[in-house]
Amino acid sequence: MFLRLLLHTWRKCRSILLLLITASVLFYYTFENEIEHLNSFAYTDSLPLIQNQDSHNAPVAGSADKITHDEISKELTDKSSLSEKNKYFPILLENSDEALKYRSENYDSKEPFHPFHPFYEKKTVIPYKQISKQYPQLNRVSSIHSNALIKDELLYHWTARINRITDHAYLDLQTNISILSTDSLLQRNESLLTVTAVLNKFDDPMDQRVWSSEILGSLLAVIGNRKEKNPELLQLITIIGEMLLRSYDTPNYLPQIPFFWKTSVPNRYAFKKTKTSMLATNILEFLTLSHITNDPQFDSVVSHSLQTMSRSVLLFDIDYLFPSFVDASGCKPLSDEKIAKGDHLRESNVLKSMQNGKYIHCVIKESLLPQHNVDGNPITLDTIDLYLTVLKAYHLNNGNLFEKREAEKSITKSLLHSIKMINDTMLFQPWLPSDLEDLLLPTSIKTNIHFDVLEDRNEVSIGKEYKVTPDGAKMSSLLSISSVLFNDSSLIEQAKAITKGYYELYKLLDQIPDVVALDRKLPTFGMFDPTAKIALIKSGHYKSNTMQQGVKITETTEDKSKHYTNTDAHSFSPNVKDINEEQLCWKLHTWPFYVNDMVVSTRPPFELIESLIYLYKITEDYQWKLIGEDLMHSIEWSQLTVADTGKLVRLFYALFEDHVNIDEYVINSKYHFIARQFEVNPTSKRIYHTFDDIKETNKLMNP
Ligand SMILES: *[C@@H]1O[C@H](CO)[C@@H](O)[C@H](O)[C@H]1NC(C)=O
Ligand SMILES: *[C@@H]1O[C@H](CO)[C@@H](O)[C@H](O)[C@H]1NC(C)=O
Ligand SMILES: *[C@@H]1O[C@H](CO)[C@@H](O)[C@H](O)[C@H]1NC(C)=O
Ligand SMILES: *[C@@H]1O[C@H](CO)[C@@H](O)[C@H](O)[C@H]1NC(C)=O
Repeated sequence: MFLRLLLHTWRKCRSILLLLITASVLFYYTFENEIEHLNSFAYTDSLPLIQNQDSHNAPVAGSADKITHDEISKELTDKSSLSEKNKYFPILLENSDEALKYRSENYDSKEPFHPFHPFYEKKTVIPYKQISKQYPQLNRVSSIHSNALIKDELLYHWTARINRITDHAYLDLQTNISILSTDSLLQRNESLLTVTAVLNKFDDPMDQRVWSSEILGSLLAVIGNRKEKNPELLQLITIIGEMLLRSYDTPNYLPQIPFFWKTSVPNRYAFKKTKTSMLATNILEFLTLSHITNDPQFDSVVSHSLQTMSRSVLLFDIDYLFPSFVDASGCKPLSDEKIAKGDHLRESNVLKSMQNGKYIHCVIKESLLPQHNVDGNPITLDTIDLYLTVLKAYHLNNGNLFEKREAEKSITKSLLHSIKMINDTMLFQPWLPSDLEDLLLPTSIKTNIHFDVLEDRNEVSIGKEYKVTPDGAKMSSLLSISSVLFNDSSLIEQAKAITKGYYELYKLLDQIPDVVALDRKLPTFGMFDPTAKIALIKSGHYKSNTMQQGVKITETTEDKSKHYTNTDAHSFSPNVKDINEEQLCWKLHTWPFYVNDMVVSTRPPFELIESLIYLYKITEDYQWKLIGEDLMHSIEWSQLTVADTGKLVRLFYALFEDHVNIDEYVINSKYHFIARQFEVNPTSKRIYHTFDDIKETNKLMNP
């Protein structure tokens, strides 16, 4: 009886229940879709994914899924249908070469292109200008001298170069604006150059470094030095800023660099192979733009990029140091097995995407990812620019680098760790024919990591290549600024030794080569000695590769601690047959015997001169000005372009003119002096980070 009643009720309810289940399934998908839609950006919704019968069946039939994959691929090889599909599915590109394939030649510039999909980080407005009395000052110049002779000489070089321009009409925008920037720093009456930018002036692909550091940087420098804001210039910087912003329109909001804007596939990720130093692009300029225009958009993308970077500091071979190339796409493709299990339907941060004419599913990671299959994971000296830029951003923002209580990683602390790591791993004492004791030079390094089961930790060997490039001189600027801002006197000594090392190299070789491979001074050695070097070559010193070979770590060991060992990884190993033993020199090369390899340079040592500015303004020691004078007189001024002359004139002017207070400016990567604004607030109780806050770091072991 009871059973029959139950059965009856069941029959009645069955249809309703079925309806309910269907409705909730439908509701679930709509809801999930909605979240996807909100999470991802405008064009990427996963609607077609859910309508796709075959991939819906995928959890039970993995093979069926494979077949559909191949079927679908066909439509991705056709350009017009690819660009149609791209409205829904972002494309994952390896590098700029691959992006080149999708350039639209006949791009109609009137057609509105892919707009930047605005996003704002929830944040309260930071009173970035306020600093407490504890905030340190870089500028310690107390007695103001004026050296009229040097100033006249600089003005002479500058006017001579300007006067050699035969036809102003042929000057490009960046030259015109950089002339304005130089004149405004020198407080010269500005020449009447016109600056107009129309959309078609933006090149494609857009070189962000030129547009942000050179063009935007000049404009910001000019605006900062003027009392009243020129509305035309303001409009121009907004147009350029908004154009640059478009390169951040990617699923993880990291920029595509270089930026292809005339493209048939505007819905895309940042490149899988992104030069790490390029991530420094726009940071200083966008922060200043945000200060000037009060547009939080510029501030937000910088804050977001910095947070993404600081979330990624432990994911690479050396903690807190990024290799030269990283995967900035944030796309971690789901494996076929995981798709077969239906993971792509369950997780909310999965985006169906396209790569190499195939559909893939990306799990969107809010971090940088390691590049796979990279030989030796080199860290070249150009990556120093990233850390120097973040440090300058810290100073520009008066110590407020988006510190949030809820953020899992402090950007400033990550920066401090990076600086410490750089100081610990990337410097060496060069073996040169010089009797100076305290010389240091930075070197590129390579890494090798394997998991040691017995020790239960990752063994990382760090190989120094003893390869020096001109941009390594930025390390001196990095260390001297941080010695003041983060209160560590050891770093200013390191900075002095690096600048002296570069100057010694300059004196020995009459240049700082584009690349030079040197030797490290072994503890028992004094000044460079050719016979000792020949003995080293014969003993196989250069060939002994002490980089440990081992099992490459897998993802599962990422959370294990790392143990570092410093080793040699000579980039060049000389042979006995290469040397002329009688004359103690190379047989085939004209360069000196203490140089193992080199590429001649013709460019002036901008980075070295910048480091002199900080050293002089911080220590007020006259020797840095004397080095500057020597460099100034050894440069072939008549050979330089207008832009390079401008850079040198600005740098030397700041070095010699004591009125230029280095705290009032931040120097960007093209050496434009962007005004920094700050107000000392006596009531502010802000505490600033110092190196004491990160005391517990890994110890380094030398071989
Ligand atoms: C640069 O300035 C000159 C002189 O005013 C002008 O003729 C030229 O068109 C300008 N070039 C650009 C790209 O604005
Ligand atoms: C700049 O121009 C003003 C008038 O416009 C003139 O009095 C002054 O001497 C000029 N300064 C220089 C350095 O040429
Ligand atoms: C930088 O390196 C020098 C020399 O190895 C060391 O004495 C100093 O403590 C280091 N400074 C920091 C902040 O790590
Ligand atoms: C800076 O460091 C020195 C010791 O090296 C210490 O005496 C001083 O109080 C520190 N200053 C600040 C502001 O932390």
